[in-house]
Amino acid sequence: MVSTSILSADFGDLRQEVRRATRCGADRIHLDVMDGHFVGNISFGPAVVSSIRGATKTPFETHMMVEKPQDYISAFADAGSDIIIVHAEASGNISNALSLIHKKGALSGIAISPQTPIKVVSKYLGVIDTLLVMSVNPGFGGQKFIGSALAKISQAKELIDRIGSRATIAVDGGVDLEWGAKAALAGAGEVVAGTYAFKSRNMAKSISALKHALDASPGSKGYTK
Ligand code: DX5
Ligand code: ZN
Repeated sequence: MVSTSILSADFGDLRQEVRRATRCGADRIHLDVMDGHFVGNISFGPAVVSSIRGATKTPFETHMMVEKPQDYISAFADAGSDIIIVHAEASGNISNALSLIHKKGALSGIAISPQTPIKVVSKYLGVIDTLLVMSVNPGFGGQKFIGSALAKISQAKELIDRIGSRATIAVDGGVDLEWGAKAALAGAGEVVAGTYAFKSRNMAKSISALKHALDASPGSKGYTK
């Protein structure tokens, strides 16, 4: 799956940008919510999510870079989020946040920042739908991919296969075709692309190139041996 992050889109024309990503083949629209506390940046809230909800049927994947996610899960679910991903490093009880996400009828995910080891989230792998492995320090688009994320992806893949979890491994930050292909080989089934998608000369071509990279590797769910 290719999920396009609107953090790199034109905020002055978000409905149009969401339609463009949909037309160009995005499997998910990645919404980077930032509260200025968990990360040193502020992006947008539930009101923006509901204002673009009608622009596409493509699932909204809300990445909550928020200090207290449990305070906002209902609002983002009501605004139209289909998948809600909270950070392992945020405050509050992760299990409660995940059950609230499920209670609201959304799919759930946990994100881990580059410095956070996989073992911190191993106990949740049986209940989440997405494990978001950050390949940049959260807070901004347009950063360079941190190569050490690849080892974390393989480690997560091995753990997920061992326990028989349904979780998809997604990688987020600095993804271009080269890093996306390496992440897929390591076991990622989803890549998040912000700059590589929205700043590309040909978004459809960039997204389909990433899809081919994902399909061509044993890491993707669709891979047939
Ligand atoms: C960073 C966000 C990422 C970022 C991806 O904190 O979580 O989703 O916007 O954008 P690029 O692909 O430009 O790194
Ligand atoms: Zn993100």
